[in-house]
Amino acid sequence: MDPIGNPYTPNAGSRPHELAGRAGELEQFRVLVGRLKRGATEQSMIIRGLRGTGKTVLLNAFEDRAESEGFLTYYHELTPDSSLIGEIARDVESALARLKLGARASKTVRGALEHLGTIKLTGPDGIGLAVDLRKADEGTIAGDLSELFLQLGGAAASKGSGVVFLLDEVQFVSEIEFRSLISALHRATQKNVPITAAAAGLPQIPRLTGEARSYAERLFTFPVIASLSEGDARVAFVEPARHQQVDYEEDAVALALAWTRGYPFYIQQLGKHAWNLAKTAPITKQDVEAAIPVAQRALDTSIYEVRIQRATREERRYMRAIAELGEGPYRSGQIAAKLGRRTTEVSMTRQHLIDKGLTYATEDYGHVDFTVPRFDEFMRRYMPYRRPSQRKRTS
Ligand SMILES: Nc1ncnc2c1ncn2[C@@H]1O[C@H](COP(=O)(O)OP(=O)(O)O)[C@@H](O)[C@H]1O
Ligand SMILES: [Mg+2]
Repeated sequence: MDPIGNPYTPNAGSRPHELAGRAGELEQFRVLVGRLKRGATEQSMIIRGLRGTGKTVLLNAFEDRAESEGFLTYYHELTPDSSLIGEIARDVESALARLKLGARASKTVRGALEHLGTIKLTGPDGIGLAVDLRKADEGTIAGDLSELFLQLGGAAASKGSGVVFLLDEVQFVSEIEFRSLISALHRATQKNVPITAAAAGLPQIPRLTGEARSYAERLFTFPVIASLSEGDARVAFVEPARHQQVDYEEDAVALALAWTRGYPFYIQQLGKHAWNLAKTAPITKQDVEAAIPVAQRALDTSIYEVRIQRATREERRYMRAIAELGEGPYRSGQIAAKLGRRTTEVSMTRQHLIDKGLTYATEDYGHVDFTVPRFDEFMRRYMPYRRPSQRKRTS
C-alpha cells in the first residue's frame, strides 16, 4: 500500500491515530481542567511506565485538552541537567506576559514577588524573573515557588484561564526540587488557584517521604501504564488502517496481537511495515508474517541498540546474564550467579546500569528490571551467553 498514506506512528512521542486504552486518564484530566476552571480542585496524575508505553503521547493529549479550555500550558522534557525550578520560573514569566495584565495587576504581582529569596525580579518594570537556588534552603525554595504560583494563579483566574505544567521524564528531577514543586502545588490547591502539573516518568520517580509524600498522595494519582489489553491493542492496530478503508484478515490481526503483546511501539512498527508490504487490501496473515522481521529490525535499531551503545562490555555481559533469567524483575544475587561472581563483585556494574537508565531498582528490595519492555529478548538476539565455566578467568 502507498507508504505516503501510512497511518502508523512508530516514533517516540508521535501521536497515534488511535490513542487506545487511555480513556480513564483522559477523562480524569478533562475533569481536572474543568474543575480548575470553576475554582474547584481535583487530583492530577503522575504517570509511570516503561519506555515506549505511551507516556509522552498521553501528556501531549493532556496539553491539547488544556489548551482547548483556554489554559496556558508548558511542556518540559527533563534531563539529568535540568533545573525544574529555573524552567518553571521562566514559564511563569512567559505566562504573566501572555496574560497581558493591566498596570494595576502587574504592580500587585511585582509587589508580591519583590521580597523573595531565590527568585528575583529583573529590571525596573515588567515581570522578568531570575532564579538563584545556590545557598537556598528547601523551605525558602518551596515558599518562593508557592508565592509565584499564587500570583500567577490569581492572575490567570482573573482572565478566566489557568496554567498546566507538563513534566516528562520526571525521574530526572532532584528530590529537593520535586518536593518544592509538590508543596507549592499543595499551597496553590489550598487557595483554589487554577494551576496544576501532570507528570510522566519511568517507574522510579523521585522518592517522597513525610509531608511531601502525604501532599503528593492528595494531589495526584499514580497510574501505571503498560502494554495495552487485547481489546485496546486490537483497536490500536486495526483502526488506523480502517480509517482509510483498509481492513485486516482476522488471522492477520491474531498474529499481530500475539507478536506485539500489546506494546504500543511494537503495534505501530508492525502496522507500518504490514501496510507498506501489503500489495492490496485486505492485509493478510502473509503480509504480517513478512512484516515481522522488518519491524523487529526497526525496533532493534530504534529503541534497543541506541541504549546498548551506552553500555560498556562489562555492562553488556551483565545485561546478557539478566536476559538468561527470562522475564524480570531480577534478583541481584541471581544475576551474579549467572555471571559466576559474587553480588558484591558486580554491584558497581549494577549501579552503573541504573545510572544510565538501562535498568531500574524495582520496589522489591534487591531487584532490578529493564526500563524498556522486552529488553531481555533483545539481549538474547544481540549476543550469546557464555556460561561462567566457559569464560577465561580474567583476574
Ligand atoms: N495508547 C496508544 N495507542 C496506540 N499507540 C500508542 C499509544 N501510546 C503510544 N503509542 C505509540 O507508541 C510509541 C511510544 O509512545 P511514547 O509516548 O513516545 O512512549 P513513552 O513516552 O512512554 O516512551 C509511539 O510510536 C506512539 O505513537
Ligand atoms: Mg516519552
